[in-house]
Amino acid sequence: MNSVITGNFRPPFFPSQLSKNSARFLFRPFTTLVFTRSLTAKAPIAVEKEESGGGGGSCGLACPICYNPLTVISDSPIYVGSTVGSNLQCNTCKKTYSGTQTHLDLVASSGSKQYDESMPLATELFRTPVVSFLYERGWRQNFVFGGFPGPEKEFDMAKNYLKRVLGGKIVDASCGSGMFTRLFAKSGLFSQVIALDYSENMLQQCYEFIEQEENFPKEKVTLVRADISRLPFESSSIDAVHAGAALHCWPSPSTALK
Ligand SMILES: C[S@@+](CC[C@H](N)C(=O)[O-])C[C@H]1O[C@@H](n2cnc3c(N)ncnc32)[C@H](O)[C@@H]1O
Repeated sequence: MNSVITGNFRPPFFPSQLSKNSARFLFRPFTTLVFTRSLTAKAPIAVEKEESGGGGGSCGLACPICYNPLTVISDSPIYVGSTVGSNLQCNTCKKTYSGTQTHLDLVASSGSKQYDESMPLATELFRTPVVSFLYERGWRQNFVFGGFPGPEKEFDMAKNYLKRVLGGKIVDASCGSGMFTRLFAKSGLFSQVIALDYSENMLQQCYEFIEQEENFPKEKVTLVRADISRLPFESSSIDAVHAGAALHCWPSPSTALK
């Protein structure tokens, strides 16, 4: 694996009304992280039918509890817009993970009504409907004050780092409302894009933005709710991971990187 971290680690301003900790959370680590693995084949990799479709096959996804492969046990495809009837099963834990209208729910507590993992503030904040709604409607645009060059330039930078995995399967980790997921998918440069976030409301926004776009290549995108520290993927099933402006929100960046 190769990794690249780009961005501005120093805040250009430091408002005095903020505590040091909240300022660190809001401004300091505006980074984009790209992990790639070297592909020997340069030609685009075809997506296996069973990967995006339903029907009893392996799908590259893994159980977030034991990390063994999940099997699709329903006929519904697992790409965006078709996940409502999707069911995936872990043959080891025997736990079943289901899809909602917007995403596949692959957190460890998925399906449990009594138990929901409590996460640190930086994770919980983005789960709220209001922050998720506002995120791409003004919140994200403010990142320019923290040194981020803006979505177009950031996308160009990411594409540059992802050159070696063109045609491969990438994860947009902590995708938020899917600003980069959508650009990756529409670029046609990757065979599959998995948009992953812990916030069900961010994924809802991502789903709605995709639904609003005409001729969006939905069959190339899967929306997954998962914790960055418990990535639900089979080993060697992903060619690259992109994480835009997300590292500072993760409960444990070192666990996530591992
Ligand atoms: C600042 S947003 C970045 C969104 C997008 N990548 C971008 O470039 O605008 C950070 C995202 O990290 C997500 N996040 C926070 N904790 C997470 C966790 N434990 N696992 C996965 N995603 C998490 C939040 O839900 C939020 O959508």
